[in-house]
Amino acid sequence: MAQINPSILAADFARLAAEAEAVEGADWLHVDVMDNHFVPNLTLGVPVVESLRKATGIPLDCHLMIENPDRWAPQYVEAGAGSVTFHAEAAAAPVRLAREIRAKGARAALALNPATPVEPYEDLLPELDMLLLMTVEPGFGGQKFLDLVLPKIRRARRLIERHGLRLWLQVDGGVSAETIERCAEAGADVFVAGSAVYGAEDPAAAVAALRKQAEA
Ligand code: DX5
Ligand code: ZN
Repeated sequence: MAQINPSILAADFARLAAEAEAVEGADWLHVDVMDNHFVPNLTLGVPVVESLRKATGIPLDCHLMIENPDRWAPQYVEAGAGSVTFHAEAAAAPVRLAREIRAKGARAALALNPATPVEPYEDLLPELDMLLLMTVEPGFGGQKFLDLVLPKIRRARRLIERHGLRLWLQVDGGVSAETIERCAEAGADVFVAGSAVYGAEDPAAAVAALRKQAEA
């Protein structure tokens, strides 16, 4: 079954609790953490995740676009994230970090930028609960979907099947009514959508429509 995770990067940051409520029916709330070092943009950190956790019942899917996730990721689990994603390009010890996130009680996920191949991480996949393939360069919402990532989604899906893993395969960036079917056909099963959900007149209806398209 397809999961739709709205990204609050496209929401009104002064009304986060209400924006979380506005996407009723969504599976997870995608929380983009940016540190102005790993990516050229700055968003929010641990205290905001803590507040969101108290303000809403929807599980939090925290996507850390930060340097040194080895040091900071565990704090996001303690703040209440149900899933913590760190970038392969930033992690010093991804195996240790994935194990630490899981040991603290959250799902562990690895993210790959568009130009980072999946094959070097094949042996790491059993340590993960989700693999995130970025379909834009990380840092900003509202960018154009990169079709060049589609073959990598297919290769990742084949690796997951070959190893008999129950890993979720997430795509993030430029996912919309125009592109979600291509992602689903290539093998993705978790879809992050920022502008396509919060830019819509009725965000909850947009979530339902995207889910229907992904499952078609
Ligand atoms: C980009 C973020 C995405 C972003 C997606 O760096 O990781 O989660 O919010 O936004 P859209 O769906 O507008 O591309
Ligand atoms: Zn994201």
